[in-house]
Amino acid sequence: MTLLFVNARQIVTCAGPARARTGAEMRDVGVIAGGAVAVEGARIAAVGPRAELERAYGGATVVDCGGGVLTPGLVDSHTHAVFGRPRYEEQEMRAAGKDYMEIARQGGGIHASVRDVRARGEDELLVLAIERLERLASFGTTTVEVKSGYGLSVEDELKLLRVIARAAVMLPMRIVPTWLGAHEIPPEARATPSSRASYVKMLTAEMLPLVVAQQLARFADVFCEPGVFTIDETRAILAAARAAGLGLKLHADELAPSGGAELAAELHATSADHLAAISAGGISALASAGTVATLLPGTMLFLGKGTRPPARALIDAGAAVSLATDFNPGTSPTFNFPLILTLAVSELRMSVAEALLAATVNGAAALGLARETGQLAPGFSADLALFDVEDVRELPYWYGDRRCRSTWALGKACYPSELPIT
Ligand code: NIG
Ligand code: FE
Repeated sequence: MTLLFVNARQIVTCAGPARARTGAEMRDVGVIAGGAVAVEGARIAAVGPRAELERAYGGATVVDCGGGVLTPGLVDSHTHAVFGRPRYEEQEMRAAGKDYMEIARQGGGIHASVRDVRARGEDELLVLAIERLERLASFGTTTVEVKSGYGLSVEDELKLLRVIARAAVMLPMRIVPTWLGAHEIPPEARATPSSRASYVKMLTAEMLPLVVAQQLARFADVFCEPGVFTIDETRAILAAARAAGLGLKLHADELAPSGGAELAAELHATSADHLAAISAGGISALASAGTVATLLPGTMLFLGKGTRPPARALIDAGAAVSLATDFNPGTSPTFNFPLILTLAVSELRMSVAEALLAATVNGAAALGLARETGQLAPGFSADLALFDVEDVRELPYWYGDRRCRSTWALGKACYPSELPIT
């Protein structure tokens, strides 16, 4: 099937090198007026002047963009989208003065989601996941990474990863699965230092081989933070994951600078995520290693923290910055990726171009997909988002609003979806 997208006031291509963009490369998103995009099957065939493409693709089905702005589909490279019940009670607890780690110590936080997920069946979690992923898609996201991490036992982590795999088959969007068995030490393993050590050992000796054998993950991630997994534990888990063929990610330096970014650089991880408390050494380490710095400003906002990830310092140091929602029930219950762009511009002091590249090309790079998606250019996956705005600068401007009208993933309607979801 050939599609010809016409009548967009702006086509924002993000076209350029098929790799993470850094520094001054993030200043230009490539805005075309009066252009058109031709899609053949799952690929973009051409981007150029409308009249030229109309001649070349005469038989194509025309998609009238109605004067809106067409961008690459957004790439949300960090979510925890499979979970059971929401944890709204914790927001008020934080307002009353309890902080995130204290709530976790009292059995809330990730532990509450783990208890809940363990009690639910796979089909039930799948129904919840589908609904939530469709909401993410409705804001312009066409590629989404989804982590496990609320199971923390072999059985329950595999259950979550199967839910992600089944959702990937059912939905038109591209879904990238990440194994996060090292999200927390589960309650039953916290009693003694040796039970804790056996959990860490079990992750690589038992759980990882099953995840890999069943082809349920493309990346491994570890929550490397004081009080959770140490630098040495993280290194051991990620080294095993790499040896087993997975790409590497790290939750690093979110609450305190603990050397997580430096470790990500040492391991040449694909991305280091969070980084609100990254050190100066961590910033230069990420920049020289080429590890993508994935910033999640929604999380800091929702937790009521005063600190923000140092986007400017990272970009100025030459690091590749990406943005993501961190969609999860505890620290970032938002489906709204454009709202993250608002935070990036208003709070992290990124330009609109930097924010959009961080949400497309660099998000793709954070998933090892920079050759596949994130730009409107010939040969790339036909992943597009159409917004009801006249200028790309309105994406972060109408904050909180849903301006996304429709999206396509691999050339197929993604939102609103054409597929009957049963
Ligand atoms: O990205 N920090 C660890 N993981 C999540 C929180 C998950 C939760 O609270 O349920 C995060 O913020
Ligand atoms: Fe996260």
